[in-house]
Amino acid sequence: VELFTNLFKPIRINRLELANRIIFPPITTAYDVHYDLKGDEHSAYFYEAIASGGAALLVIGALQAIYPGRREPPRVEINRDQDIAHLRLWTNTVHKAGSKAAAQLAVWNYWSKGGEGTPPEDISPSGIVTQTGNFPHDPKRFMFDPHTRPLETEEIGMIVAEVARSAIRALEAGFDAVEIPVVAQNLLERFIIPFTNRRDDRYGGSLENRVRFAMETIAKVRTVVGQSYPILCRIAADDMVPWGMGLTDWQKVIPYLEEAGVDAITMMPGGYETRAPRQQMVVPRDAYVHLAAGIKQVARVPVCANMRINDPRLAERIIRENKADLVAMGRPLLADPQLPIKTREGRVEDVRFCVACCSCFEDIAEMRPVGCSVNPIVGWEHAFPLIPALKPKLVCVVGGGPGGMEAARVATLRGHRVTLWEKGDRLGGELLDAVLPPHKQEWQSFIDYETIQLGKLRVDIRLNQAADVGTVLSGKPDAVIVATGAIPVVPPIPGAASSHVMTAEEALRGRPTKSTVTIIGGGLIGCETAEHLVRADKKVTILEKLQRIGDDIGSFNRWVLLDRLEASGVRMETGVKVTMISGTGVEGERKGRTEWFPAETVVLAVGYQAEDALARQLEGKVANLYKIGACVNPRRVRQAVEEGFRTAYGI
Ligand SMILES: Cc1cc2nc3c(=O)[nH]c(=O)nc-3n(C[C@H](O)[C@H](O)[C@H](O)COP(=O)(O)O)c2cc1C
Repeated sequence: VELFTNLFKPIRINRLELANRIIFPPITTAYDVHYDLKGDEHSAYFYEAIASGGAALLVIGALQAIYPGRREPPRVEINRDQDIAHLRLWTNTVHKAGSKAAAQLAVWNYWSKGGEGTPPEDISPSGIVTQTGNFPHDPKRFMFDPHTRPLETEEIGMIVAEVARSAIRALEAGFDAVEIPVVAQNLLERFIIPFTNRRDDRYGGSLENRVRFAMETIAKVRTVVGQSYPILCRIAADDMVPWGMGLTDWQKVIPYLEEAGVDAITMMPGGYETRAPRQQMVVPRDAYVHLAAGIKQVARVPVCANMRINDPRLAERIIRENKADLVAMGRPLLADPQLPIKTREGRVEDVRFCVACCSCFEDIAEMRPVGCSVNPIVGWEHAFPLIPALKPKLVCVVGGGPGGMEAARVATLRGHRVTLWEKGDRLGGELLDAVLPPHKQEWQSFIDYETIQLGKLRVDIRLNQAADVGTVLSGKPDAVIVATGAIPVVPPIPGAASSHVMTAEEALRGRPTKSTVTIIGGGLIGCETAEHLVRADKKVTILEKLQRIGDDIGSFNRWVLLDRLEASGVRMETGVKVTMISGTGVEGERKGRTEWFPAETVVLAVGYQAEDALARQLEGKVANLYKIGACVNPRRVRQAVEEGFRTAYGI
């Protein structure tokens, strides 16, 4: 049994005693937009779940420290006294759950100089337009207007004073600490980067000048919070853009921040403009730990590592090897708020790992309330206590994919007797194929989690048995949950049944292909299969009928995968409607013209159709019949898991 002695060693940040080394970093949830500001104090429940799971410190934010808030829609910020009531409720909740709370006081790049009632302006050090836009996957979408007004020298002092007023609100709201972000395109960061700061006053030029704004902000906050109150500062540690600052540049910033009064350094590598994967599954779990280690070499104050630290064993190792003093676990705590407690109790196998699918990021990019693929009740823990059902029932679940496994788990936890039928020899369903393409292995942790939980719960699992109406009825179930998934569509194209044509699944599972492969269908599965094949030195062409490759891929993952496909020489053709498959290639039609694509092997990736035959046969034969996941409509793991949870919860 691994003892997590380093991870659970207390640490002090200034006078603040933290029970362990796990920090929940700021995660904008949009719960405030959707619920809190409409009278339902949803965020408090969310923070309660995280805090009671054992994280030592929750950094809450981003909270905009200067007026106005982050534009539309309105949020809970910290720039007006009316925010304090919300914030106080949140800190009370965190404290009651035995944890500490810090307020992230952000200084985004817009400001109403005259305060409330005056129009906001986009502001910057020098009005420099950066090259890439704010989102690498969508260069047209700017988080901040690139055409901003350079600040007058006197205005900097006004902003510093505003941040200090927000620090006072943080005190009034009961926060134990504040975090000043000098990161992610915000104003203080833009002053430090030479590319965006071309000023010739005392805030531009030398590093000492460029860091002055951040130092004055920190020092001013210090005057209002007092000597012993912790001030954290969040930096990139590496901007990861050619025109930005690297680790050695950021190392030079640290002494200035410390001199100004910072008590701990937290970090978030890169920024919105970074065109290198940072949060995605392709990023190895410890990819950015070296940045923390690099900052720690020069810092006198504690340093917190961040990004893709989803495994407590990795977290323990980071602290043990002295690469950082603390670890941030953001999405890993969305995936399982109980991660710290489970780890401390020696139950790492019970932890549901973040798989870095980035669906939470996609939510927030679209301003939807943040959810999670593997934790269907994130933010809703309070509404779904896993208490026993009034009347235990016999529940039959058919299909051991993500939805079926989750349904079996939750139904059992609620006291029902569950039988889970799976026609394959292992649990996992379509996830077993999902882990096959390059960089998709994180999903294995979810298969493992469910498999281990179902084992511990002693669920009656019948592998290698395709349930039919007879088997289902013979168990006399009170409820039946059909989770039979979906099957690949074979399109009615002449030649589609030939022996050199196969489905994407078959190709992924290792059915041999010849060296020239054409993939019909350029959605997620087609693209992933292309990468899989190109890795095996095949010459790959993707034919997509839409104008856009990877149209069904989420915004955080699409550009990452497409960049790789481009780099590996996959030919991608859009607007092609395939009309015929022959022994030597594929014929397609584009803009009324016939085109020919040579191929020795053809792979079909044109979508899925619900496998709902059993569900239809059972209609009218069982009292409580439910269909979940792909057999209703093929979608994502997240929907299958959520339907599995909710259906089982309702029985
Ligand atoms: C949905 C979402 C919202 C986030 N919002 C913020 C934010 O408001 N401020 C901030 O500094 N970081 C924000 N982050 C970044 C996280 O603090 C963290 O650095 C990032 O998720 C990487 O760590 P992880 O792999 O442990 O999740 C957000 C992350 C997510 C997933």
